[in-house]
This record gives sequence, structure tokens and C-alpha cells, in this order.
Amino acid sequence: MFYYWAGHLRAISFSVTGIILLNFSVADIVFPDIEDPGLGLPPILVPEHSKLSKSIVKLGEKLFFDKSLSRDGSISCATCHVPDQGFTQNDKPKSIGIDDKIGRRNTPTLLNVAFAESLFSDGRSSSLEEQAWQPILAEDEMGNLSVSEVLDRISADNKYQNMFKGSFGEKSINKNNVAVALSAYQRSLVSGGSAYDRWYYESEADAMGPSAQRGYQLFAGQAQCWQCHQIAGPGVLFNDNLFHNTGVSFRSHKLGLSEDLGRYEITKLEYDKRSFKTPTLRNVALTAPYMHDGSLSTLEEVVKFYNNGGSDDPLLSPIMGSLNLSENDIKDIVKFLHALNGDSPVKD
Ligand code: HEC
Ligand code: HEC
Repeated sequence: MFYYWAGHLRAISFSVTGIILLNFSVADIVFPDIEDPGLGLPPILVPEHSKLSKSIVKLGEKLFFDKSLSRDGSISCATCHVPDQGFTQNDKPKSIGIDDKIGRRNTPTLLNVAFAESLFSDGRSSSLEEQAWQPILAEDEMGNLSVSEVLDRISADNKYQNMFKGSFGEKSINKNNVAVALSAYQRSLVSGGSAYDRWYYESEADAMGPSAQRGYQLFAGQAQCWQCHQIAGPGVLFNDNLFHNTGVSFRSHKLGLSEDLGRYEITKLEYDKRSFKTPTLRNVALTAPYMHDGSLSTLEEVVKFYNNGGSDDPLLSPIMGSLNLSENDIKDIVKFLHALNGDSPVKD
């Protein structure tokens, strides 16, 4: 139902061949309905200081796929947030940025990021606008040393000059408008209308098969998943916008990875140690590998991890515990998770 995929594919093939993106027209875009962006989703909230329009989304799309946003022209946002890998990177537990620098964490999906109340797995950013320049300036991501060098490169491109003028007016290539455009594009990446949504919200009895339906019963009951990946309400993201210690970081550290204290790095509160943001589970079957450090490769491994009660972290969330799920129960929950794949932002 939403519809930028054709644009994505074109953008990718053009940047591969090094040709400038000429072939964009606003006609490609079916703009998301802000009030009703898709079955099972809440309305899109655009912050007062930001803007969402077709032309701004189009501009944001061009920026998102543009490698010249990185210091040496090697990396775009889409290098790590790959559209046909659920806007993540399926082959990399941790992101790889400029000069092959390995990042600290796994690349999260940008599908439905419009609804996130905080960003990054430690919640250190509170809006897409605030977040946008962080990867551009991070030394292990796009590696620029200053905002102005990036704005200079954008300003040198006639196409950008016209697009900024059309969207924001004369002399409008500045730090804020780049952030607004990148945010607008990301806010358009909404994906609802999954098999689960049709089953649950529209009572379409066979939208989900019997195994996924059993998986749902377990998810919402014995397996306790709903306590953090919340499912009540007319529009849900299967998260609670909170931070929990599920034992992942403690386990990974024991296995030899460097320690990641998560939310604690921001709040310095003892009980936040090794806590991470509850991620959305919409489209999760597209976004392997899993967890903040990509340390679990498949959904089956994730459910087994929960079945064993996480890890023996002394600060483990009290919600976590052994679940007594059978092999079949685990399969059913995985089936249910697959039923959360939504309409992709693809134009047929
Ligand atoms: C080198 C790979 C890489 C590049 C390039 C990159 N990202 Fe990311 N992105 C990541 C990783 C890794 C995280 C998670 C970091 C964390 O949680 O601390 C992330 C997190 C995010 C988030 C937060 C999502 C959430 O749900 O919390 C947003 C939004 C985002 N990136 C947008 C962008 C935009 C826009 C660009 C381009 C300007 C970009 N990224 C470039 C790897 C990358
Ligand atoms: C105590 C709260 C809590 C409970 C209970 C819980 N989760 Fe999570 N879940 C989280 C948090 C927090 C993360 C992120 C952890 C990290 O990044 O290290 C997560 C991550 C995940 C991921 C990986 C998502 C991704 O994009 O990497 C999946 C899949 C998942 N949970 C499914 C489940 C299922 C299925 C259950 C029930 C068996 C469950 N969760 C129970 C809080 C919880």
C-alpha cells in the first residue's frame, strides 16, 4: 500500500553505476495517510517543529540514498539500513561504517520508526530530527568532521538546490532542513496490515494459520512476551517504549564480546545497567540478526533464549524466567512472529 520501493530500487541501481539520480518524480509517491497509516498502526505524529509533505519526503529519500553524505562518498544511510532487508543489514551482526569500522551495535529497522518514542537501543535520542546528524558525523559511520562540509557538498548539486527551494524556499540548505527531510522520508516508511492485523482487527479467521494462532495464544499468555511487547490497543507496535534487561548483554559479554551497558550509559542509574529499548516486532522476520548486538541469528534462537529465562545477569528483569515451552510451542511462536510482516513500502 505505501510506495517508495520502486524509487529505492532505482536509487540503488543508479548509485551502483555512479549515475546521478535523475529519474525521480513526485508522482512515484503515494503519501501515507497520517491519521490512518495502515491497519493496526496508530496515527503518525509529526513534531511541531518538523514538516511532512510529498516533496520533503522525496528530498529525504534522495538524501537517504546519497553516498556523498559520507566523508569519502562510500556510504549512504541505505548502506546499513538496506530497504530490501527490512531497512537493516541481514549479513552483519554489527554495522560496518566508513573505512570498514565496525560499529558497536546491530542496525535496527527503520520500518515504523515514525512511532518510536525514543531512538537507539539506549534511547539517547528523542526525535528523528535530533537523530539525523548523528550517523553523518559519527566517526564509525559516515565519518564527516563537520556539518558545513556536508552542507557544502549538498549545496554544490543543482538538483538539491531545486528540491530544497521547492520544499523549504530560497537559501534553505541548512542543518535543520536536512534533518527535517531525512525524518520525513523515514516517517513515510510505515508498514501495517500484517496477517495478524487482518486476523485480529478484521476478524479474518484464516488470515493466520492454526500454528500462528497458537503462537499468539502463547505470546499473550504462558510465554509472557506481551508484558514488554505490548499488544493491547487499536494501534500497536509490539513494544512498550521502555527499557529492560533481558540478559542479552550479560550473555554476550560472557561469550567474549565487549560489555554494553545500554540505557545505563545515558541515565547512570544502577538498575538500567544492560537494559535496552524494547524493539517493535512488526516485520521482525525480515530483520535478522537480532538484539542490540546481533548476537542471536534466528527467531527460533530468540524464542529459545527466552524459554531458558534469558541469562544469569544479577540485574535481569523480574519479568524474565524459564517458560517451559515445548519444541512445538517454540515453532508456533516463531510462526506468529512471521505473521507480523506488514505491507512493505513497495510499489508493485
Ligand atoms: C554504518 C551503518 C549506519 C549508517 C551509515 C546509518 N545508520 Fe542508522 N543506525 C545504525 C546502527 C548500528 C544503529 C543503532 C545504534 C544504537 O542503537 O546505538 C542505527 C540507528 C538508527 C536509528 C534509530 C532507530 C531506532 O529505532 O532506534 C535511526 C532513526 C537511524 N539509524 C537513521 C539513520 C539515518 C537517517 C542515516 C543516514 C543519515 C543512518 N541511520 C545511517 C547504523 C547505521
Ligand atoms: C522483560 C521484557 C521483555 C519480554 C518479557 C520479552 N521481550 Fe523481547 N525484547 C525485549 C527487549 C528489551 C529487547 C531488546 C534486547 C536487546 O536488544 O538486547 C527484545 C528483543 C526481542 C526480539 C529481537 C528484535 C530485534 O529486532 O532484534 C524479539 C524477536 C523478541 N524480543 C521477541 C520476544 C518474544 C517472542 C518474547 C516472549 C517469548 C519476548 N520477546 C519477551 C523485551 C522483552
